[in-house]
Amino acid sequence: MSRLVIVSNRVALPAEAAQRSGGLVTGLVDALHQAGGLWFGWSGKLGETTPEPNVFETERVTYATVDLTRADHDGYYSGFSNAALWPLFHYRLDLMNFTRRDLAAYRRVNAVLADALAPLLSPSDLVWVHDYHLIPMAEELRRAGATQRIGFFLHTPFPSLGVLATLPHYGDLLKSLCAYDLVGFQTVEDLTAFHDAILRRAGGTISSDGHVHAFDRDLRAGAFPIGIDTEAIAEMASGAVKSRTARRLQESLRGRKLIIGVDRLDYSKGLEHRFKAFAAFLDGYPAYRNHVRFLQIATATRSDVPEYRALRQRLGALAGDVAGRYAELDWAPIQYLNRSFSQRSLAGFFRLSRVALVTPLRDGMNLVAKEYVAAQNPDDPGVLVLSPFAGAAYELDAAVIANPYDPDAVAEALQTALGMPLGERCERWRAMMVVLRRNSIAAWRESFLGALSS
Ligand code: G6P
Repeated sequence: MSRLVIVSNRVALPAEAAQRSGGLVTGLVDALHQAGGLWFGWSGKLGETTPEPNVFETERVTYATVDLTRADHDGYYSGFSNAALWPLFHYRLDLMNFTRRDLAAYRRVNAVLADALAPLLSPSDLVWVHDYHLIPMAEELRRAGATQRIGFFLHTPFPSLGVLATLPHYGDLLKSLCAYDLVGFQTVEDLTAFHDAILRRAGGTISSDGHVHAFDRDLRAGAFPIGIDTEAIAEMASGAVKSRTARRLQESLRGRKLIIGVDRLDYSKGLEHRFKAFAAFLDGYPAYRNHVRFLQIATATRSDVPEYRALRQRLGALAGDVAGRYAELDWAPIQYLNRSFSQRSLAGFFRLSRVALVTPLRDGMNLVAKEYVAAQNPDDPGVLVLSPFAGAAYELDAAVIANPYDPDAVAEALQTALGMPLGERCERWRAMMVVLRRNSIAAWRESFLGALSS
């Protein structure tokens, strides 16, 4: 069996992974434990000098991380990755902030990381690179002499050609992607956008069996929708719902129905639209006032990027507006928290919630949607209200689908979800669980790695 090498911007060191900080981390750690492997990426620290890998070995897994200089990190992570590629891939051209300097830092950091990783590789390794921070990694590894099979998985959406083409030098990104042996996307829509760009802008060809030929390379591309460890979440939720934290939340509700949202504080998540939709719901269906509570957990993220700081300000004001407009002396309609919770606590909160609002404007997959469903009590499941612009909507069509750009549609969906009879809730939940069990995190990683190694 080949050794597995995972490359990602963030590396979950064992202390962090032990808290099972997220389904993806768990899924990747399990794969590394099974095959033995190496996890390589940024250390999360800023250093003064050219990075040398810090190596940390456990019984089955080696972790190798490098520090980045402040200037490199600013240009590569806060700059090109999160102020240019992230908004571009989420269709937010208005927020895209491109500079040649950031692009140069992005290329430079990918080259530096590849130079640090190449000497750690063995000839039979299987290398799996993750996400938009590291698109040039295969090209740089090949320049550094790597001959291994290298796969790439994009966790975000891949935009349609008209959007992609607004990025200066976007052709270089396509060329970088073609240096991989396998490129994986979340949905068929993303894959189709990639095919379209290859055909129309890279002079490439796609054969009927899915092989891509472009930039003098042959590779494969496919849709591999990421999943979760459904049973583990279900079990976690049924335990966590009895925990002190969950009981505290439940007691505070005093019999009211809980509507929950859990997101990183990111403009792609549609939080402003969601808050306005909740206000539209309270206006449109006043009988629900005092009978529901909307708990939005929005964990602050990427605060070095100005747009994220501005969003935080706006959301704070909006949450205050909604509370100020509708609250009663004994009722707060909205509870808005910027802190983070463990996955276990969240699983307990999900199980307590009658409705989850997962209404991103654009999202690669959205694992919260899947985790919410997996966390439900089979005898009394809650209802998922889901945006059609999350990758998860391709699989979870038994959710109540609502367009986040239409506040009245989301308000209606909320009303439908809150009033839904038990029989229909169970039916929809069971249909979604069939999909979640089939498309598990293990199935995702096995199908990707199977395709990469064949
Ligand atoms: C998204 C990206 C991941 C990223 C995560 C958290 O899910 O696809 O690559 O790690 O957001 O963002 P952060 O910038 O904090 O790593």
